[in-house]
Order: sequence, then C-alpha cells, then structure tokens
Amino acid sequence: MQLYLRDALPGDTEQLVGLVLAGKLTIDADDQLFLDDYVDALDEIDHTDGSYLLVAELGGRIVGMLQLITFRHFQHRGGRCAEIESMHVADDERGRGIGGRLVEYAISRAKDIGCYRVQLTSNNARADAHRFYEAHGFEHTHHGYKRYLDLDWTPTRSASRRRPIDAAVAG
Ligand SMILES: CC(C)(COP(=O)(O)OP(=O)(O)OC[C@H]1O[C@@H](n2cnc3c(N)ncnc32)[C@H](O)[C@@H]1OP(=O)(O)O)[C@@H](O)C(=O)NCCC(=O)NCCS
Repeated sequence: MQLYLRDALPGDTEQLVGLVLAGKLTIDADDQLFLDDYVDALDEIDHTDGSYLLVAELGGRIVGMLQLITFRHFQHRGGRCAEIESMHVADDERGRGIGGRLVEYAISRAKDIGCYRVQLTSNNARADAHRFYEAHGFEHTHHGYKRYLDLDWTPTRSASRRRPIDAAVAG
C-alpha cells in the first residue's frame, strides 16, 4: 500500500481528533464532541502563513499527523525557524517507519521554506518518542518549560474575522 504524505483536509478532521485522543498521556480539553472547534482550527492553520497540519494517509486512512509551525526569529539574522507539535501515529501502525517518513517530510518542508532549525518538545514520560527524535537528528540540548493558563473557553475564531471577506465576496 502506498503511503501518502500531504496537508490535512477538512474531511480528515474526525480521524485526526481520534489520533490526538489516542496518543494523549492525560485527558484534558480534547474531546471528539467539539469537532467544530477542530474544523475551525484547521481552517485557521490553513490560512496562516508558514503553518501546516501534515498527515500520513495509508489505504484511505489517516495513520499519522503532525503540526508544523514556522516563524521568523529575531536572532540568527532574522532566520526562519520551525516547530513540530502534536505528532502522533496510530497505535496499530507504530514502528513501521510511518512516523519517520512524516517527520522527514516536515523537515524537508521546513527546509524548502528556508528554516535554519527545527525544534520540538516532548513529554519527559515519552522515552520511546525521545529515541525516535534522536534517531532523526534531534539533539537534547534544552529543558522545555510549559505554563498552563487558566482559560475556560475555547479560542474559536470570531465570526467578525471572516465577515469582511464574506462581505467583499457578496458585495
Ligand atoms: C513516536 C511516534 C510518533 C513514532 O512514530 P512511528 O511510526 O512509531 O516511528 P517509526 O516506525 O518511524 O520509528 C520507529 C522508532 O520510533 C520509536 N518508537 C516510539 N514509539 C514507538 C512504538 N510505540 N512502537 C515502535 N517504535 C516506537 C522507536 O525508537 C523506534 O525505533 P526502534 O525500533 O529502533 O526502537 C509514534 O510511536 C507515536 O505516535 N507514539 C505515541 C505518541 C507520541 O509519543 N508522540 C510524540 C509526542 S512528542
């Protein structure tokens, strides 16, 4: 079977949420009942320069995903930097090279748009994932820090952000 590596499409959303939920270490905000929020997030990612949700598709099924975020750095002479988030492979497909193909695809996409570095954080508990990233050339050079903010709402885009475009099309 051919493995396809590509940008995520709206029709992939439900399977992608399933992958996120299956790969999580703790239960938090993710919830398949709020599919519209993920549809909205994918739409915003698609419309943001340098921002991508990449998937691996095998036999019509989404078996892997990662989010690739690129940004200008105010260092390295204003170089472009990339970050990988939310990397998951379906548990029944792990260890078959799919994650490796996907992460190398993301790295080549980052390189194509001129990034000088790709970085990521990985939970301390994910020893297998650390082995995986190190096998793909990532070095454990920094300590990662996260501070969760007390937010009781989901940041869906406001309708007003879309209205000017809709209005322009209509009028
Ligand atoms: C880490 C992950 C993305 C790697 O994808 P993958 O398709 O299994 O990786 P590949 O088949 O390309 O590479 C296999 C290597 O990945 C590592 N690996 C990590 N988890 C593994 C698993 N459950 N099964 C097999 N290999 C795994 C191993 O180092 C393995 O190499 P080894 O066989 O020489 O030990 C995937 O296993 C996964 O989704 N894990 C759970 C979620 C997760 O930890 N995501 C990373 C968040 S930072």
